[in-house]
Amino acid sequence: MELIDLFILCFSLVFLVLWWRYSVTPGKCKSNNLPPGPPGWPFVGNLFQVILQRRHFIFLIRDLRAKYGPIFTMQMGQRTLVIVTSPELIHEALIQKGSVFASRPLDSPIRLVFSVGKCAVNSAEYGPLWRTLRRNFVTELISPVRIKQCSWIREWAMENHMKRLQNEAFENGCVDVMDICRFTVCSILVCICFGAKIPEEWIKDIDSVTKEVMLITSPQLPDFLPVLTPLFRRQMKRAKELRKTQIECLVPLIRNRRAYVEKGENPGSLMVSPVGAAYVDSLFELKAPGRGLLGEEELVTLCSEVFVAGIDTSTSVLQWAFLELVLNQEIQEQLYREIVSTVGKNGLITEDHVEKMPYLNAVVKETLRIHSPAHFTLSHAATEETKLGGYEIPTNANVEFYIEWMTEDPNLWKDPGVFRPERFLEGDGVGVDLTGTKGTVKMLPFGAGRRTCPGLTLGMLHVNLMLARMVQAFKWLPNPNGLPDPTETFAFTVVMKNPLKAVILPR
Ligand code: HEM
Repeated sequence: MELIDLFILCFSLVFLVLWWRYSVTPGKCKSNNLPPGPPGWPFVGNLFQVILQRRHFIFLIRDLRAKYGPIFTMQMGQRTLVIVTSPELIHEALIQKGSVFASRPLDSPIRLVFSVGKCAVNSAEYGPLWRTLRRNFVTELISPVRIKQCSWIREWAMENHMKRLQNEAFENGCVDVMDICRFTVCSILVCICFGAKIPEEWIKDIDSVTKEVMLITSPQLPDFLPVLTPLFRRQMKRAKELRKTQIECLVPLIRNRRAYVEKGENPGSLMVSPVGAAYVDSLFELKAPGRGLLGEEELVTLCSEVFVAGIDTSTSVLQWAFLELVLNQEIQEQLYREIVSTVGKNGLITEDHVEKMPYLNAVVKETLRIHSPAHFTLSHAATEETKLGGYEIPTNANVEFYIEWMTEDPNLWKDPGVFRPERFLEGDGVGVDLTGTKGTVKMLPFGAGRRTCPGLTLGMLHVNLMLARMVQAFKWLPNPNGLPDPTETFAFTVVMKNPLKAVILPR
């Protein structure tokens, strides 16, 4: 530790003592009726208790739920976290009191670098900026018209995807499912955002920056003790360098697209979508409340949000689905039979077909139930002091909805740990609503209410289409040189600790 760090640390401690005495005491808010929670240490609350546990936060949450019930508080440094775990309370907050719980809490300095001060759909506070960005996102990216208009992009990407699968199997004897799907989903989203077909290396660069951004923006110590931020100068420096790389990677695409839209120029013939068909085209003319016309930095943030939100989530669902299909050959065969009876052995599976394949949809829903990519929604915040489950929820608390818990509840699901797609055709999954709007809440992999995932239809389409095409073309088998290991790890999403490698045989 350098001398300057020691000085900052001492100064921070003095500041913390003063701040603690005069402003925040763990478990206290104006009304002093926060949900119960584990007693914390002075200054840091439960923060170091969590760190010293040396196991993932999720396992601790499970223990605390058993002790304190469906809603409890953790004082993590300067941040108050209210953890909500029961379907009833999640429904009450996100649907019945939807507008009250629709905001986002303060962002860490590192996250602010990437969101240019919360100028993104996922991070904007509930208000006019968020409304404008989200409305534009929905119209320009996932409206039924737009989805139809972009289906040629998926066709093109899927053709390359199938060739890559074949090549990788030929070269390595097996395929890395997550890796190969990531590339394809990334190339689809790049083309949807910028209307461009770009070289493979460029797509790989965008994907790799996206992964790094996800890692660097995940919670770190200064998020909970902002007073320690100066001690993390190196991380901040790294974040700024990464932001520069991200800008260098995406700004040329933005400039090329602008030249194409405004002057009809198309150097290198990268631009392939007609003017007005790419997401970024709508952002060029969008007037964002409080910001006016958006600058290049904001465009980088809004487009990379699509990659951050859309690549890892969809590909981790695909990876888990293939794990289950590799381990349960009978389920894979049943899916194959449905595909053959719908389009034949070699018929082209279209986007319209996948909607009409009940078993395929059941396999995807069962994967989302058992292997939800997100165990929590993003952090929420209340727009005004409110009540939940009889407790006070202050506006400065992070409200964390633990959506995964309900899918393991034996009162809601029969044999919840067993992968059984049939339950969605006849059984406890029939009629289950993934959005929570119909009343009974049994699984919410996309969240619910105002901040629910706007990419649901697009994400589901990508997963369904890729799964169907890949099962139609190949039989998927475990790799005999390294049997699949279902151990989870918590990156940005919940993924397989040892990525799935499978052997594929042409059907
Ligand atoms: C299987 C795929 C996906 C899953 C499981 C998923 C899940 C989620 C979840 C749990 C949230 C947090 C909701 C909340 O905070 O209450 C979310 C938010 C979001 N997702 Fe997705 N997502 C998926 C695919 C996508 C795709 C493909 C896109 C974009 C093309 C996308 C864009 C977003 C955005 C922009 C938000 C923030 C919404 C807001 O704050 O208003 N997601 N998603």
